[in-house]
Amino acid sequence: MMQEDIKLIDLIIELVDARVPLASRNPDIDELGRGKSRIVLLNKADLADAACNREWMAFFENAGIFVLEVNSKSGAGIKAINALVQKACAEKIERDRKRGIVNRPVRAMVAGIPNVGKSTFINSFAGRACARTGNKPGVTKGKQWIRLDRRLELLDTPGILWPKFEDPQVGMYLAFIGSMNDEIMNGEELACELLDVLQKFYPDCITQRYAVSWKEKSYATLEEIARSRGCFLKGENLDTRKAAKLLTDDFRSGRLGRITLERPYLL
Ligand code: G4P
Repeated sequence: MMQEDIKLIDLIIELVDARVPLASRNPDIDELGRGKSRIVLLNKADLADAACNREWMAFFENAGIFVLEVNSKSGAGIKAINALVQKACAEKIERDRKRGIVNRPVRAMVAGIPNVGKSTFINSFAGRACARTGNKPGVTKGKQWIRLDRRLELLDTPGILWPKFEDPQVGMYLAFIGSMNDEIMNGEELACELLDVLQKFYPDCITQRYAVSWKEKSYATLEEIARSRGCFLKGENLDTRKAAKLLTDDFRSGRLGRITLERPYLL
C-alpha cells in the first residue's frame, strides 16, 4: 500500500523514536523513498536525552538528511517543520517553477514503524484548522489529503513500516520502548537486558529512583528493586515479574528520566 501511496507524493516525513533512532527505522525506506525528498523527525524527543538528541541531529545532518527533534504530544518543535519542508523540497519547487508550474503544493506522507507516534504527529501538525480534501462521499474516490496551507498537503493515512526484527538487538530495543507485544516476551529477561543498558549509560537513574545499589548480575539488581518496592509473592518470595513490569513502565513513561539507548558514535 505504501508503495502505491509513494507514487503520489514528493516528500516522506519519516518518524523515528528519539530514544532509539536507528532501531526504530526500517532501512527499506531508503529503497522505497528513492527519488523523493526526505525528512527525519526524532519524535518523543521529550523522553530522550537532550544531549543525545543534539548528537543524533548532527549524525543525520552529516548524512545529508534533513532532521528535526519534535514532541508530537505537546507540539514542541512542530512549527519548525514547514520551513524544513521547503528546504527539503527546494529542488522540486525550482524544477516546477522552471516548467511554469507555480503554487503546486508539496504532497507529503508520514511514515514510520508502529507506535512511533504517527497519528499523534498528524493530529498535532495538521491541527484542528486543517481542511480535508478529496474522498468526499459520493464525489471523489481516492486518497484523503489534508491541506495544511497553500504550500503543503499531507496524506492523512500514514505509511506503516515493518520493524526490522532480524537483528535481535533491534528487537530488544523495540521491546524496551514498548513497540512489541509484551505478552510474547519474558518480562524479567527484558528488564535484565534493560538494566544492563542503563547501567552502562545512566547508572544513577536506577540507584536514585529505587534506592538500590547495582549488583554484579542484573537479575540480582532486579531482586533489589523488588525488595525495595515491596514486590512480594506469598510469604517472603520476591515478585520479580512485578518489579520487571514496574521498571519497564517507569522507563517507557520517562519516570527514570530522559534516556537515549542508542549512541551514534557506537555505530
Ligand atoms: P502510531 O500512530 O505511530 O502507531 O503511534 P501513536 O500516534 O498512536 O502514538 C503511540 C504512543 O506514543 C501514544 O501513547 C502517544 O501519545 C505517544 N506519543 C506520540 N508522540 C509522542 C511524543 O512526542 N512524546 C511522548 N511522550 N509521547 C508521544 P499511548 O500511551 O498509546 O497513548 P496516550 O496514553 O498518550 O493517550
